[in-house]
Amino acid sequence: MNDSYGRKIQYLRLSVTDLCNYRCVYCMPETGVHKKDHSEILSIEEMTEIVRAAYALDIRKVRLTGGEPLVRKGILTLCRNIKEIDNAIELGVTTNGSLLPAMTKDLKAAGVDRLNISLDSLNPETFSKITRGGNVQNVLNGIRSAQDAGFDNIKINTVLMNGINDKDIFDLIRLTRDNQIHVRFIELMPLGVAKYWNSNRFMTTKAVEGYLHNAELLRIDGVARVYRIAGYKGTIGLICPMSDSFCPSCNKIRVTADGKLKPCLHSHQEIELKGLHGKELEKAITDGILQKPQSHRFGTVGSATERFMNEIGG
Ligand code: 5AD
Ligand code: SF4
Repeated sequence: MNDSYGRKIQYLRLSVTDLCNYRCVYCMPETGVHKKDHSEILSIEEMTEIVRAAYALDIRKVRLTGGEPLVRKGILTLCRNIKEIDNAIELGVTTNGSLLPAMTKDLKAAGVDRLNISLDSLNPETFSKITRGGNVQNVLNGIRSAQDAGFDNIKINTVLMNGINDKDIFDLIRLTRDNQIHVRFIELMPLGVAKYWNSNRFMTTKAVEGYLHNAELLRIDGVARVYRIAGYKGTIGLICPMSDSFCPSCNKIRVTADGKLKPCLHSHQEIELKGLHGKELEKAITDGILQKPQSHRFGTVGSATERFMNEIGG
C-alpha cells in the first residue's frame, strides 16, 4: 500500500533477534545488551503471522536482520514459512557472515534468495577491533560458502568510519575485481551507540569516490549509487544516508524482535504488534505505514530513537 506521501511500501525488515555473537563498536555497548525475556520476543509463529499480514498489504520483499539472525533458533523454519505464504516473496538475510559456513546450504534450501554480509575491514586486526574479537577469516569462509551454495549477487555492507577503516576501502573495492560481489559503502549514522561518537569519526562516501576514477556509474539502485570499475566482475555501491537524504525513495517498514513496528529508522515512534492477529494486525501495520514521516532530520536534530542498532537491524 501507499503511505501518506505516495511512497509504495513493499519492503519489510524484520529483526528476528537482538542478540549477536559480535559486539561491533558502533552497534552495541561493550558489555552487550540486556537479554530480553523469551516472552518479550516474537515467536517464529508470530513473525510468520506478521509477514502474512504484511503480505496482505502488498509487502513483497522481506529481509531478516538482527542482531545476528543466524543465532536465532527456528530461523530456517521462518524462512520456509515465508516462502510458503508466496514463493515470489523476495527473501533476504542480513548477516555478519561468521556463522554462514555451517548454514548456507540450509538457507538456500529454505528459500533464501539473497544474502547481505556485513564486513567493515579485511584487515584481521582492524576487523577484530571493530567487532570486539571477531575473526575475519570466518566471514571470508562464510562468503565463500555462500558462493559455493549458489547464492549470487552477494552484497557486502561496509560502514565507513574515519580513522578506523578508511584505510581498508581500497582492499574492499578490490574484492569486486575477481568476484561477482557487490560491495556497498554506507555512511555511519548517528544512531544507537554511534549517536554519542565524536563527529570526526563520521565520513562521507566522497572518500570512496577517490578510488573510482576508472569506474562508470551503472545505475541508481534504490538508495545506492552503483559503480563498476572497468574489467571488474562486481560492483561498488555508495549509500549516503547522511550526505544525501534517501527518504523520498524509502519503501520500508521495520519490525523489532520484540514486535514493535517502526515506521522510520530514526523515529522513536513504535506501534505494538505483539498480541495482535488477523485483521487487527493488518490494521496496526496499516497505521504504521500511514505514520511514516516524510523524512528523517539528522541534519538538524540527530536521531530520535533511543534503541541500539542491534534491536533495529539497520
Ligand atoms: N550506521 C550505518 N550502518 C549501520 N549498521 C549498524 N549500525 C549502523 C550505523 N550506525 C549496519 C551494519 C549492518 C547493517 C544491518 O546495518 O553494519 O551492515
Ligand atoms: Fe552484531 Fe551486526 Fe551489530 Fe556487529 S553490527 S554487533 S555483527 S548486529
